[in-house]
Amino acid sequence: MPVGIYFATTTGKTEDVAERLHELLETSNPPKDLADLSSLDEFEGLDGIICGIPTWNTGADCERSGTAWDEMLETIGSMKLAGKKVAIFGLGDSSTYTENFCDAMEELHSYFVKAGAKMVGYVRKDSYTFDDSKSLLGESFCGLPLDEDSESDLTDSRLQSWAQELKHEMPELN
Ligand SMILES: Cc1cc2nc3c(=O)[nH]c(=O)nc-3n(C[C@H](O)[C@H](O)[C@H](O)COP(=O)(O)O)c2cc1C
Repeated sequence: MPVGIYFATTTGKTEDVAERLHELLETSNPPKDLADLSSLDEFEGLDGIICGIPTWNTGADCERSGTAWDEMLETIGSMKLAGKKVAIFGLGDSSTYTENFCDAMEELHSYFVKAGAKMVGYVRKDSYTFDDSKSLLGESFCGLPLDEDSESDLTDSRLQSWAQELKHEMPELN
């Protein structure tokens, strides 16, 4: 069974990154915009799910993304996704929103954990400059943070390293 890439976006940056990841990973289907899906039933037919989520609702405890992901969180939490591997990438701005960098990743992560998914693709925080993030689990982010606003020159190399890591953690990609 294949690996699917899903994203939601407000100004298009998360979609652009999803397309770049699709090219790097050579996934069989193009990325899908969550806003175009009426249900998430197709998740059950996948071995691996890669999700792109931006953060817009600064400082919020819930509905941190401000995109179509927010309406899908409860549905994801009630799904049975045991055995499926899930990786998350987040779009944010580590300069302007340095206290809340990519906060939405952790909220989505928590609902996939509730559904029993095996979470992969954690990234160490060392190479990022920011003050705080709800998406930190110890020394690592619970996914790949990307900053197309302040550090867009780093996105290609961050994506390439992550794609290599995912190929190890999601053998279905090979
Ligand atoms: C009003 C506003 C609020 C934002 N809040 C946050 C935030 O809390 N944390 C963060 O990391 N980025 C924040 N951002 C930056 C966006 O997440 C970033 O521009 C992202 O790339 C947008 O992705 P999209 O084009 O896919 O919607 C905010 C941007 C705006 C304009």
